[in-house]
Amino acid sequence: MPGFDTLLPRPVSVSATPGRCPWPAPVSVSAAPELPAEGYRLEITPDGVTLSAADAAGEVYGRQTLRQLAGPDAFRAASIHSGLTLPCGVVGDHPRHGWRGCLLDVARHFRTKAEVLRFVDLLAAHKLNVLNLHLTDDQGWRIEVPAYPRLTSVGGWRRSSMVGRHDGPERDGRPHGGFYTTEDLREIVAYAASRAVTVVPEIDVPGHARAAIAAYPKLGPDPDADWEVWTSWGISTSLLDPSESTVDFFRTVFDHVLDVFPSPVIALGGDEVPGATGEHGRFVREIAAHLVSRGRQPMGWDEVLEIEGLPSMLIGAWQSDTAGERAAALGHDVVLCSEEHLYLDHRQSDHPDEPIPVGYLHTLEDVYGYEPALTSPRLRGVQAQVWTEHLDSARRVDYAAFPRLSAFAEVAWSPADRDFTEFLPRLRDHHLPRLDALGVEYRPLDGPHPWQTRPDAPGRPR
Ligand code: ACM
Repeated sequence: MPGFDTLLPRPVSVSATPGRCPWPAPVSVSAAPELPAEGYRLEITPDGVTLSAADAAGEVYGRQTLRQLAGPDAFRAASIHSGLTLPCGVVGDHPRHGWRGCLLDVARHFRTKAEVLRFVDLLAAHKLNVLNLHLTDDQGWRIEVPAYPRLTSVGGWRRSSMVGRHDGPERDGRPHGGFYTTEDLREIVAYAASRAVTVVPEIDVPGHARAAIAAYPKLGPDPDADWEVWTSWGISTSLLDPSESTVDFFRTVFDHVLDVFPSPVIALGGDEVPGATGEHGRFVREIAAHLVSRGRQPMGWDEVLEIEGLPSMLIGAWQSDTAGERAAALGHDVVLCSEEHLYLDHRQSDHPDEPIPVGYLHTLEDVYGYEPALTSPRLRGVQAQVWTEHLDSARRVDYAAFPRLSAFAEVAWSPADRDFTEFLPRLRDHHLPRLDALGVEYRPLDGPHPWQTRPDAPGRPR
């Protein structure tokens, strides 16, 4: 019988009372604006459920908690038996961090609209509330922009891809691509909003933009060169030409992004710009100012801290938490995105069968043990990253993200006093069965299934 000790992320307070409540049960919902933002309170008696919610998000989270209390079968797409019940008692709950994000890179490997919607469901089931959708990069451009159709007709696909990570010229010879129409994106935004998830789009400038340059070579450093959407992984040294006409081009792109995404925060990238000049800094500053003039807060990776004269931004501190401290000292808001802890494309173990092992070793316990090193009031929250150079299918994304994203959800939501030895059995015995019921192909705790290995693809551990 599932009880309150099975919940993930762990709530702030619970108290059990005798009895069980048949499920599904009537849920009486009332507004409780006195609760902390996104908070909720559940009172479960044998006769039914009262849900008090601070706001719309609080109601979503209260209902997610009820689903967990009803047991793993409540996560199936259809009911397979009657007789589900809830334990009676009271749950009081609210999140520790306001920004509980996950970046999904749909540029390196496109994820279909249906796959993105499913990913939103998985975020909401973990009480995560931001999907940072990385829509453009050197290897692909995924958002239709009516003024510039070649961004998707040319930039939306590449002729070939590197398999795994290596220095050689080998490619798979298989075209890869896809993009979202405006209607697709409006649908994703609305679907996410009804699950208390904000979609924060990212258009990466002035680096990570070769797909745009392939579509419109005048945007690049050499308009006469034979550009193509990049078929390699890594950091490209080909940057946008920081001319006024390129800035204008991207103002138009961002105006379309603003029309589609109501998010108060819009991400402009700004990471990994080798050989950048002061002109590239001006480029970022002008795009940031444009977003501010349209009433949105620009978000950039911590490299932009080198640029003078930026408006107040939201900084994704990925190189270190210290970068987050610096950002806060400079008057920016901060989301901690630590590559050292929260990059879920990085390898999960030293197991000899770990598929395409890249990056640092980030075990489940490492992710669970992450504790933000920043206490500034500027800290908005934390974000996990799912970059997809080596995740070429939704099955590979499931494997990389779960169950580490379940551990991250608790870092983001629950009170700070975490104990991995308490978490692990709760995950194993109660939460993995929920993921099974949802059809999530997570990494088993003792190593990959044979069909999850990738002996065909080299990795590059750090
Ligand atoms: C990043 O990993 N380049 C933000």
